[in-house]
Amino acid sequence: MKKTVLVSGGAGFIGSHVTVELLEAGYDVVVADNFSNCDRTCFEGVKKITGREDLPLEVMDFCDLKAVKALFGKYHIDAVIHFAAFKAVGESVAKPLMYYKNNLESFLNVLEVAGAQPGGCNVLFSSSATVYGEPDVVPVTENTPRKPATSPYGNTKTMCEDILRDTVKASEGALKGILLRYFNPIGAHPSALIGELPRGVPNNLVPFITQTAIGKRECLNIFGNDYPTPDGTCQRDYIDIVDLARAHVYAVTRMMEGKMKKDCEVFNVGTGRPVSVLELVNAFEKVNGVKVPHKFAPRRPGDVTAIWADPTLANEEMGWKATRTVEETLKAAWAWECHLAQQKEAGSDDTGKATSLKDQILQAADKANEAISDAIDKVKEYSALSPEEKKAKQDEWNSKLTEAAEKASDSVKDIVDDIKEGADKLFKGKKD
Ligand SMILES: NC(=O)c1ccc[n+]([C@@H]2O[C@H](COP(=O)([O-])OP(=O)(O)OC[C@H]3O[C@@H](n4cnc5c(N)ncnc54)[C@H](O)[C@@H]3O)[C@@H](O)[C@H]2O)c1
Repeated sequence: MKKTVLVSGGAGFIGSHVTVELLEAGYDVVVADNFSNCDRTCFEGVKKITGREDLPLEVMDFCDLKAVKALFGKYHIDAVIHFAAFKAVGESVAKPLMYYKNNLESFLNVLEVAGAQPGGCNVLFSSSATVYGEPDVVPVTENTPRKPATSPYGNTKTMCEDILRDTVKASEGALKGILLRYFNPIGAHPSALIGELPRGVPNNLVPFITQTAIGKRECLNIFGNDYPTPDGTCQRDYIDIVDLARAHVYAVTRMMEGKMKKDCEVFNVGTGRPVSVLELVNAFEKVNGVKVPHKFAPRRPGDVTAIWADPTLANEEMGWKATRTVEETLKAAWAWECHLAQQKEAGSDDTGKATSLKDQILQAADKANEAISDAIDKVKEYSALSPEEKKAKQDEWNSKLTEAAEKASDSVKDIVDDIKEGADKLFKGKKD
């Protein structure tokens, strides 16, 4: 019987590529996402690439324990690959609670429910090379000591690694875990139907390069050219997104086939090849024959000088190896940016727009429902008070009820705005 893999955050950048590789390797996949950091583009792309129009999609929030329980009740899940998290380092510094809440709570819920499955479950966590901080020695192996995180985002990765280890240990065999530490995933699927789709100003280098090359951004800043590296710019281990996605298939299969040597294992997912920021920009220009206006800017606080992986363990133990060249990867990244530009020019796909709009409106409706129920509860609570209690806490109740009524009213306005925005988007240009 086919095994089923739940991909949380499966409509995002890495999740969509992993879904393609899992389907192509013969797994059944359930994609679940709350669309907080993506739209339908990649999910629709996955369906096109794989021809799987019936690919299950669950629009849900992993911070909602009830919803996670319902999901595991609906499908027989053999393994979970957990991507559902926020990932912008800078934003995590500004909004630490948002990051701790989303990244920890979603994972705790997955572990709680997966651990209670009859017959157990396999959990694969998307960790990051960020756990190594500024390493004393490169390349880094899995035994390189982790360094204290320099951002709440990084901290959530270190914490989730520890949470998975502890939970697997306490589960007495019910749970198995693999931690994959990604280096710098870049590129796009060779079909150019899925790729990285940053919201607003990209946080990662390659989308910034492609957006600058296509003219969406004026100039790329290269932060620091006075690092102790061969050309003075930082060095990273850029790994092709398809290679990275395939590592997940190897890891899941290792778990399913009972080949793990420990109940919780950790693997670096990198190429073992350091490439500097400047080398990457130059390679992009050369392979795609386009210019990327760039200039040097001062170093950014928190940037690590140089880090790349020693991928020996993943190569030898999992049998996985990165095979795509930097040139292939950068060609794919450019093809994806060009595809996005063509889509935009063609007015994009109305079906994709309509479905993503539907999700947006449904989410707004859920929120409104909650806000209205909350307001009703508060009114009931107030009505049940004695006249003395009402009098004693009149001011407190005035503000509580006003706030609840305002929230309910705002949430209804949000639905109306979403509907108006959607109508504008969908019918723009149709009159001509
Ligand atoms: N992209 C990288 O450079 C990189 C490097 C190392 C680790 N990672 C980790 O890999 C994972 C995936 O990264 P990505 O680049 O694909 O990011 P992404 O933002 O494209 O994908 C994450 C997806 O999770 C969804 N999501 C977030 N919180 C959710 C929740 N509570 N419930 C349901 N869905 C939720 C988002 O809508 C998004 O589609 C993240 O955990 C990230 O930290 C990424």
